[in-house]
Amino acid sequence: MLLSKAHITLSALALSPFAVSTPTLDKTTYPGFVHPSNGDCKDYNVKSTVTYEQLQWDQPRYKDNYEVASLLTKVASQAKVPLPAFSGSANVTKEFQIAGTFCKPKSSNNSKQNTVFVATHGAGFDRRYWASSFKPNEYSFAQYALEAGYSIFYYDRLGVGYSSRLSGYDVEINPQVELLASILKSLRAGKYIEGIKPSNLVLVGHSFGSVISNLILGRHPELVEGAVLTGFSFPTPADPAASASGFGLSVFASRIVSTLTGDARPQFANSFDNGWLSFADKFAFTEAFLGAEDYEVPAAEYSYKIAQPYSIVDFLSAFAQPSVADKYVGKLLLAPAERDLFFCAGNCTDTFARGGQKSAFPNPKTDISLFVQEGSGHGQNFALNARDLYKAITTFADNL
Ligand SMILES: *[C@@H]1O[C@H](CO)[C@@H](O)[C@H](O)[C@H]1NC(C)=O
Ligand SMILES: *[C@@H]1O[C@H](CO)[C@@H](O)[C@H](O)[C@H]1NC(C)=O
Ligand SMILES: *[C@@H]1O[C@H](CO)[C@@H](O)[C@H](O)[C@H]1NC(C)=O
Repeated sequence: MLLSKAHITLSALALSPFAVSTPTLDKTTYPGFVHPSNGDCKDYNVKSTVTYEQLQWDQPRYKDNYEVASLLTKVASQAKVPLPAFSGSANVTKEFQIAGTFCKPKSSNNSKQNTVFVATHGAGFDRRYWASSFKPNEYSFAQYALEAGYSIFYYDRLGVGYSSRLSGYDVEINPQVELLASILKSLRAGKYIEGIKPSNLVLVGHSFGSVISNLILGRHPELVEGAVLTGFSFPTPADPAASASGFGLSVFASRIVSTLTGDARPQFANSFDNGWLSFADKFAFTEAFLGAEDYEVPAAEYSYKIAQPYSIVDFLSAFAQPSVADKYVGKLLLAPAERDLFFCAGNCTDTFARGGQKSAFPNPKTDISLFVQEGSGHGQNFALNARDLYKAITTFADNL
């Protein structure tokens, strides 16, 4: 498991007061971002009040990129270097706003549209990961799913895009899991989905979004009928992937987002504090996300242009959470990239052959299938063969 060697300790701390609401950006549509042409789509700002266990990060804040570099060296180290840890946790209730898009097929009116994919992007992206405006015929999962007759809800995770902005030292996994649970309950009740009565809700996660989706299967297994986890794996301790994954953040060549200039400065850079990091340049991004051969340069340029910052605290919080989903008895498609560096040290066929997924989903009733996207790197939706992945996902939905 990525960063599993982080010795993250939790101890109970007194409740501390939290602000009630968080800022968002004014607009809700990205410049140049278009909805899938075959979809009947609408953008929403979903307000949710959630209760969750807030992990507390009392470490000194980064002064500069030298401190970020030192932290990443420690995270990547094979030695048992002590990492900064959370000092405790407290249960809090807070309201957030999540910006999302719902689309149903424009032309079809069969029962398939009542199956709704609920898509959660990973770190370094926002909801546009699922709906590329660049060559959508090749790269947009939303368009592919709509073409196959399905509906989709895709949203900006807490902290990025047009969802509530948080300090990079406060953003963490638990509110994200509860926000997704809250979205699923709303969709089930017919909210934000334009007259659809959902018969199946199917999680689709990428990377960090798969970590969140996996935690839904662990904590709220009754909320969905199916789940697809991409850009994610369950390495056993002896798998080289289990220890190599700490290098992942180093490959990002992470820098404090406000120090980046020119092309490297992501959209909305001014709205992120120095707890947020981004890629030093487009080559670091390409190295981290795209397979060595399985991409075209214009797709690398486009996906870099829509990249968003991420937070190390967010990462550390994710891997401080147990991920065993023993009560989930629905269908599950594990769909990693063959050459994923972060999660499989470059060979997911090998990582999945070792069977770690059986410990993550120990219930014999969980129906697990596996699709490995040939030759692709971690950013699977921008690989040349993204449509092979999409076909595997819609075929999975056909058989729910
Ligand atoms: C938060 O609430 C849960 C559920 O009631 C409880 O198990 C947990 O111990 C609480 N955590 C803290 C830090 O109070
Ligand atoms: C879709 O089908 C349902 C049930 O057959 C029907 O009630 C509804 O009017 C149809 N909607 C459209 C837009 O054709
Ligand atoms: C990946 O791992 C599998 C299973 O261990 C192995 O058969 C295959 O040769 C490896 N692929 C590469 C490209 O090394």
